[in-house]
Amino acid sequence: MNTIICGLQWGDEGKGKIVDFLTEEADLVVRGQGGNNAGHTVIAKGQKYVLHLIPSGILWGKQCVIGNGVVLDPVGLCQEIESLESEGVKISPDQLLISDRAHVVLPYHRELDAARELSLGDKKIGTTKRGIGPSYADKANRIGLRLADFRDPAKAKELISLRLEEANRTLAYHELPTFEMETVYTEIEAAIDRLRPHFANVIPIIHNSWKKNEVILFEGAQGTFLDIDFGTYPYVTSSNTTSGGACTGSGCPPHAIDRVVGVCKAYTTRVGSGPFPTQNDEIAEFFHSRGMEFGATTGRPRRCGWLDTVLIRYAVMVNGVTDLAITILDGLDERETIKICVGYEINGEIHEFPPADRDYWDVINPIYQEMPGWQENTTSCRSYDNLPQAAQNYLARIEELTGAPVKYVGVGPDREQTIIR
Ligand code: GDP
Ligand code: IMO
Ligand code: MG
Repeated sequence: MNTIICGLQWGDEGKGKIVDFLTEEADLVVRGQGGNNAGHTVIAKGQKYVLHLIPSGILWGKQCVIGNGVVLDPVGLCQEIESLESEGVKISPDQLLISDRAHVVLPYHRELDAARELSLGDKKIGTTKRGIGPSYADKANRIGLRLADFRDPAKAKELISLRLEEANRTLAYHELPTFEMETVYTEIEAAIDRLRPHFANVIPIIHNSWKKNEVILFEGAQGTFLDIDFGTYPYVTSSNTTSGGACTGSGCPPHAIDRVVGVCKAYTTRVGSGPFPTQNDEIAEFFHSRGMEFGATTGRPRRCGWLDTVLIRYAVMVNGVTDLAITILDGLDERETIKICVGYEINGEIHEFPPADRDYWDVINPIYQEMPGWQENTTSCRSYDNLPQAAQNYLARIEELTGAPVKYVGVGPDREQTIIR
């Protein structure tokens, strides 16, 4: 069974935890898009790990691949490797393979990211400032550098010089410091050299694994509504975060995929700017006061709100979700009643799917159904049938509204706090 795991909301759905849970049975874990804008939390045997670029499968000692669709910050990746190694995780070149087709995030990408945000003023995206957008833009503009370009330092330097001409013009326009080629190269040289043994042509590795009937997991980053095509554009990231991105970002053919697990919180969160129809300050206060819902990458408090099944219904279609993983059900344990958004009223019309027109997002009136809460602690529950009846009713209603079956339920952050149905 080859499985894509992807987020159905605005990221941070608990993908890391679900990937980690499924990795025990896997042979290969692959990341196909995004970069170190991602922050995937895994809590195993009392120890907390936050992964940014490295697939969560590394914690099980499984072989992991960073695919061509990822934009890779070499310095960030080296720091991540060091931090994991200091926690006792082994990361040999055999265990972590990096596609030599992956594009490189360079120091000027981060500056260009910050400059763009600054110039957008109150319309800023609220990016993670990791240089993700400018790196993907360079890729699309065909002026990016790939890891393979660093085989020959002279060639890499020539490409950086060419790119800097334009990057520096933009930075100077924003009255920001410009870059010298040698400084850029020096800043990343040691990291590139450190990572060199990991560079590989990963296509045959993925293909052979598939042909041997091994189990491959594709770890999505971000979520459906941060997807550059299907998300709340322009308040999105710069890659295809939906299931199709796993194939284009790794070189794995679509017919090798057997199932798609869509990860969805029992409520909704979002970090950064952009529309969020079911946002609710009382819920945000409820989670923040319990130390929950702070960003794993930037530490920013996440915006919070009720579950929005208009979004999930659409995400189920776009990703081809075969199984739902509903996470942080325990987050609602104390609630007396729970609201669930079942439709949007926009200018007097009812909509079952999210609109493309950005003006509509400002005038959405969410239609809610209210359901009784269970007011019982579910964190030690380990079987679906033992969940409180009101919780089972809530999950059944999610299935009805989204058209996908619930296969996994999260009742706590720990690896063990996962129910399989
Ligand atoms: P990801 O980016 O999708 O991997 O998600 P993050 O790691 O950024 O955010 C999810 C947060 O929820 C992390 O702090 C997880 O430890 C936590 N988490 C995941 N699943 C559960 C769950 O079922 N219950 C609780 N209480 N926390 C969870
Ligand atoms: P994981 O994988 C939540 C958001 C940023 C911003 C927008 C664009 O942990 O779910 P970018 O830096 O990508 O250009 O920012 O996307 N964003 C995320 N939000 N979880 C993530 O990743 C995110 N990655 C990017 O907050 O709104
Ligand atoms: Mg996250």
